[in-house]
Amino acid sequence: MDILLKGGTVVSSYGCRKADILVSGEKIAEIGDNLSADNRQVIDVSGKLLFPGFIDAHTHFDLETSVFTADNFETGSKAALCGGTTTVVDFSTQNRGETLAQALKNWHDKADGKTSCDYAFHMSVSEWNEKTEKEMDDMITEGITSFKLYMAYDNLRVSDAEMYEILKKVKELHGIVGTHCENGDLVNELIKDELAAGHTEPKYHPVSRPPIVEAEAIKRYLAVAELADVPVNIVHLSSEEGYKEVVRARENGQKVYVETCPQYLVLDDSSLETGVAGDLPPDTDKFAGAKFVFSPPMRKKSDSECLWQAIAEDKIDTISTDHCSFNYKGDKELGRSAFNKIPNGIPGVEHRPVIIYSYGVKQGRITVEQMCKLLSENIAKLFGMYPKKGVLAVGSDADIVVWSPDEQWTISKENQHHNCDYTPYEGMRVTGRAKDVFLRGTQVVKDGEIVKEKIGKYVYRNESIYF
Ligand code: URP
Ligand code: ZN
Ligand code: ZN
Repeated sequence: MDILLKGGTVVSSYGCRKADILVSGEKIAEIGDNLSADNRQVIDVSGKLLFPGFIDAHTHFDLETSVFTADNFETGSKAALCGGTTTVVDFSTQNRGETLAQALKNWHDKADGKTSCDYAFHMSVSEWNEKTEKEMDDMITEGITSFKLYMAYDNLRVSDAEMYEILKKVKELHGIVGTHCENGDLVNELIKDELAAGHTEPKYHPVSRPPIVEAEAIKRYLAVAELADVPVNIVHLSSEEGYKEVVRARENGQKVYVETCPQYLVLDDSSLETGVAGDLPPDTDKFAGAKFVFSPPMRKKSDSECLWQAIAEDKIDTISTDHCSFNYKGDKELGRSAFNKIPNGIPGVEHRPVIIYSYGVKQGRITVEQMCKLLSENIAKLFGMYPKKGVLAVGSDADIVVWSPDEQWTISKENQHHNCDYTPYEGMRVTGRAKDVFLRGTQVVKDGEIVKEKIGKYVYRNESIYF
């Protein structure tokens, strides 16, 4: 039976409007005033905001580093849905010695039949040769139009020459490259320096990856992109120094897309010493700062303010999470002897919408329309899913978040759906909640809990829309 969402406020990037939404099968069939309730299942959504399903373009589910991530596609996708995220774009990663086809198969094996939200993959390229180049054409056929490069991590990073070749190829394919910008050589040196000085605790992690290491990599990446004459994306921008390089390149006429993540907006490096978020009393466990070890690392409050300002001015295009969860017990603890052995990454796929709503919209930094753009519409455009995803419009997938705008609650490991024994946002008071969530017309979340599992489909993506 068709579903009628009645009396809600439909959010888009250009405004909010009170309207009913009619869902027929997997699609939105009609949006309008006072739509007929005859022969339809009517759901009263008055007083609620209706967002297009949020899209997280930066997750790492079922990733093996020194250990496996705590969340796989089964658990991570359910957590995503509970927070209002209906599509994730995870990173299929080519280990050196593997073909792209093999990497893609590995990721399909991890995700297919197990995932509760819709999903797509970027392809991380770590080895560049003639075969890889040919295989990039095949990736387009496989629905992959975005590629990831690393400038840090010795097992993954590419040289400047390889980056140049890859960017030229992606230009030909009308795709988009997103790059992890940190100077890997300098990070290695700085880690050595810190350890040699006996600095082994988590708080030295950011010392080994200061903003200049990010800014230098961004500057070099954008120089390579300028030579290749192609728009590029920067993932997880963390620092004011890095942002200044973006501004400089844009002033020079370059098209640069920027992603940041909630952790760079609402956390700062003091948590590496206290082991807790914000102003909570410090954890008595001196190693608890490991819960906040990820890369690029947390910065100063002034960096967060710079990023918020850039977001408010529409200079940052997307907010995703870099969800890469590791349990504290057993996994993060691998680094008790030295901070560089702590698995890098934090959980967050569930909490992104509520953090951005609470600290962005409710605190007056951004509008609800901007939130819609940053968490859904821009991501759908850049990664070739628009207007199937990213907008509530007739003919689009009926991925709909029914958002309670005034509910107040506290984030905790006790109420999260991540398969992780902690959350870095423990104790944060937030406002708003994804009450009900629809994925292609099926209700998958009711009152904040999963009611339908494992119906996620792989999304074949088109060329990027460069907005
Ligand atoms: O610490 C992080 N971010 N881990 C995930 C891999 C990456 O760098 O994106
Ligand atoms: Zn990264
Ligand atoms: Zn990442």
